[in-house]
Amino acid sequence: MKMRNVTTLVLVLLLSGSCTQMNPQKPTAIATETGKPQPETSTPTNTGKPQDAKMKKFIDDLMAKMTLEEKIGQLNLVSVGFTVTGPVVSENVDEKITKGLVGGVFNTFTPIAVRKLQEKAISQSRLKIPLLFGYDVIHGHRTIFPMPIGLAASWDLAAIERSARISADEASADGLNWVLSPMVDIARDARWGRISEGSGEDTYLTSQIAKAMVHGYQGADLAAYNTVMACVKHFALYGAAEAGRDYNTTDMSDRRMFDEYLPPYKAALDAGAASVMSSFNDINGVPATGNKWLMTDLLRKQWGFDGLVVTDYTAINELIPHGMGKNEYEVAKVALDAGIDMDMVGEVFLQHLNQLVKDGKVTEEQINVACRRILEGKYKLGLFEDPYRYANEQRAKETLLKKEYRDAARDIARRTLVLLKNQNQTLPLKKTGSIALVGPLVKSQIDQLGNWNGAGDYKQAISVEQGIRNVAPNVKITYAKGANIASDTLMLKRLNAHGGMLEIDPRSPQEMIREAVQVAKKAEVVVAVVGESQGMTGEASSRADITLPGHQLDLLKALKATGKPLVVVLMNGRPLALEWENDNADAMLETWFAGTEGGNAIADVLFGNYNPSGKITATFPVSVGQLPIYYSHKATGRPYAGQLLDKYKSRYLDVPNEPLYPFGFGLSYTSFSYTAPTLSSSTMKAGGNLTVSVQVKNTGNFDGEEVVQLYVQDLIGSVSRPVKELKHFKKIFLKKGETQTVTFTLSEEDLKFHDINMNYVAEPGDFKVYVGTNSRDVQAAPFTLVK
Ligand code: BGC
Repeated sequence: MKMRNVTTLVLVLLLSGSCTQMNPQKPTAIATETGKPQPETSTPTNTGKPQDAKMKKFIDDLMAKMTLEEKIGQLNLVSVGFTVTGPVVSENVDEKITKGLVGGVFNTFTPIAVRKLQEKAISQSRLKIPLLFGYDVIHGHRTIFPMPIGLAASWDLAAIERSARISADEASADGLNWVLSPMVDIARDARWGRISEGSGEDTYLTSQIAKAMVHGYQGADLAAYNTVMACVKHFALYGAAEAGRDYNTTDMSDRRMFDEYLPPYKAALDAGAASVMSSFNDINGVPATGNKWLMTDLLRKQWGFDGLVVTDYTAINELIPHGMGKNEYEVAKVALDAGIDMDMVGEVFLQHLNQLVKDGKVTEEQINVACRRILEGKYKLGLFEDPYRYANEQRAKETLLKKEYRDAARDIARRTLVLLKNQNQTLPLKKTGSIALVGPLVKSQIDQLGNWNGAGDYKQAISVEQGIRNVAPNVKITYAKGANIASDTLMLKRLNAHGGMLEIDPRSPQEMIREAVQVAKKAEVVVAVVGESQGMTGEASSRADITLPGHQLDLLKALKATGKPLVVVLMNGRPLALEWENDNADAMLETWFAGTEGGNAIADVLFGNYNPSGKITATFPVSVGQLPIYYSHKATGRPYAGQLLDKYKSRYLDVPNEPLYPFGFGLSYTSFSYTAPTLSSSTMKAGGNLTVSVQVKNTGNFDGEEVVQLYVQDLIGSVSRPVKELKHFKKIFLKKGETQTVTFTLSEEDLKFHDINMNYVAEPGDFKVYVGTNSRDVQAAPFTLVK
C-alpha cells in the first residue's frame, strides 16, 4: 500500500504519538428489542440447517489447509479502480492475489476486468479461493436512480425495492457480488453532506426502507446469479456527526441511540443483510471501528449477527489519529479485538496480525473467526461453486441500462419529486407557448446523477432541458445560464478536482443576470433550475451555509422582478434554507438529483404527465441556525406558543422555531381532505390492537397519490417522549372526487420504547394518535393503554 497524500501521512504520524489508550469502552448492559443477549460463540452461528452443516464442513476443510498468512489474507480488502476516498491506495494487487493475500476487491467492475482478477485467484493462488467484488452501488449501478434522500421521498417501498433489485441485476451482470449499501444513517443536520445518501431523519421510515433495499439486493437466494450481498452502513450513528461536519464525533445517550438511531441497522440485519460496514466516527469516546461494545456485545451477542464486518476506507489506520493506539501494530489489535473481520484498503491487518499472533497479543482463533465469516460470505454467494457466476459478458450486454430499466428509473424518479409550493396552480405547465429556461443546472447531465453515482455514465443522463424538449416538443424554449453554481473559486476548483465537471462562465454575475432577465422578459413563464452541484453533497461535502450557493438567489430575485410566473426547480441533495424562495416563487419543485432519467421525470411532473406525490423525509429549516431540526423532538418545560413579549420561553429571537417545511410535507396538483381519525376503541389492552381509520377524499381536479401518515404521542412516561413519532403510513391512489377509508392497525409493539431502566416496553397510560398529510397538519384522537 502507499500513502496517497503526504500531508495526511505527516498528520497521522504527528498524532500517533499522542495517546496510547488501548482498551475501549466497557460493555453496557442494555436490553434491546431482541431480548436476552446471544450466547458468545467462537465461530459464527450455525443455525442447524442442513446447508449450514454443509457449509461448515466445507469451510472447516478449507481452513485446515490454510496457513495463518493465507487466513490473514482473506481479511484484506483492496481497491482497484478510480474511486479513492481516503489517504491510502492499494498497491501490487496482482502479486498479493496470487500469494493468497487478498480476500476481496472493490472499485473494479465489468465482466472482463473482474474475470481477469478472479482468474488470478483461481488459477494462480495456492488454495484457489475466489475473491469478493464490491462496489458503492448506492442508488443504481449503470441505470442511476434518484439519490437515496429522493428515493425515500417517494414513500414507496415497492419502488425503492425495485430500484435495489435493478441495481443488483445490473451490478451482478457487471462482475460484482457485493454492494456497499444500504446506507441507513439517520441524519437530522442538513449541513452534513451525506444526508443525501440516507433516507432522512425518521427511524421508522428509514427502517422500512432499509428492509426494502436489502430484499431488493439479496432477493430470496444470495447464490442466485442476479443477487448480491448487501452491506449495511455506516455502523453506527455516523449521521449524528457533531455540527454536521463529516467524520466528526458523535456523542449520544443510550436511550436515543436505541430508540432512534440503531433500529434501521437492526431492521436491515433482520431482513437478512449479510454484511456490515463499520463507521469512521467516534461514539461516546470510542471510534466505531475499535468499539468492542458496538461490534461484539451489541452486534454479535445481542443482535446475533453472523455475517462479515468490513471497516470503512482505512478506518483501522484512522484509529491512530483517533488516539486509540500509537501505531498500526497497536490499532490492528484494537480493531480485531473489537470484532472487525475485514480491513478496507488500510492493510493494517495484513501487515501486523502475523506479528501480533507471534507476540501473543491476539490469538489465531480470533483470526479464524474473522476468516470464517468472510469465507462464509463467499460460500453463500455461490463463489466456490462458480467463481465467475457474476462475470457474464453476454448478460452484461443484455442487462445494463436496458430500456426496461431506464423506464423504471423514469417512473421511480417521478415518484420522488416533491412539490413544495404551487400558487394559483402555476403548475402543471401548458405544452404550448414559451418558456425561459434559466439557471446553472438546466443543461447539466452529471448533476442529475448525484453523488456516489456508481458506474453511471453522465452522457446517458437526461438534463432538464432535454427532458422538457422530449415531453413538450411544441414549447418554445429560450435559455440563459444566469449564474454559476457557486462564486467561491476555491470551492469550484475543489469540486472540479473531484470530478465536478463544472464549466465556469467567466462573465460577471451582473452580466449573467442581465442576460437572463432579457430572456425571461420575452417568455410567458420562467423555469429556473437552481441548487447544488452533485459534489456539494455527499462524502466530505458538509456545508455551513445551506442557502442556494453563489449568485443564484440574486438571479431568482431579478427573475421575480420581471413579473413573469417563476417556477423554481431545485436540484440538491440536502434540505436547503429557502425562505425567500418560498415567499416569492410561484411554484417550487424539489427534484433532488433524480438519476439517469431525471430530466424526463422532471418534465413529466412539470407538464402534468405525472401528478407529484413525494414528501420530504428530512425537515427543511428556515435557517441553518435551527439545525439539528426534526419533527420527533421532545417538548420543553418552557414551550413557546407565540407569546411574543414573554422572554423566558424556548425560542430564537431572530427566527421561528418552526421549520419552513415539516417532515412528511409535499403537495399535489390535486387536494385531499381528511376526516378526524376514529378508533375501534378508546383503550388498547396489553398485547392488543386498535384500528385507526380515516376517510381521505380527493377534492381537487386531478387523479393523484397521497401518503397518509400516522403518528403517535405517548403523553406521560417514565422518560420524556417525543411530541410525535411516525408509526405507519400508506400511499394511496385516488381518482378525482374519490374517497377511500384508510385503516391502520396500531399495536402495543408500536408504543414501545426504552424506559427509565432501559427496558423495551410500552407503558400504560394516555396516548394520542395523529393522522394527516404531513407531520404538522394532522388530526388527533386519544386512547389509553391499559395493562
Ligand atoms: C465511504 C463509504 C464507502 C467507502 C468505499 C468511504 O469513504 O464512507 O461509504 O463505501 O468509502 O468507497
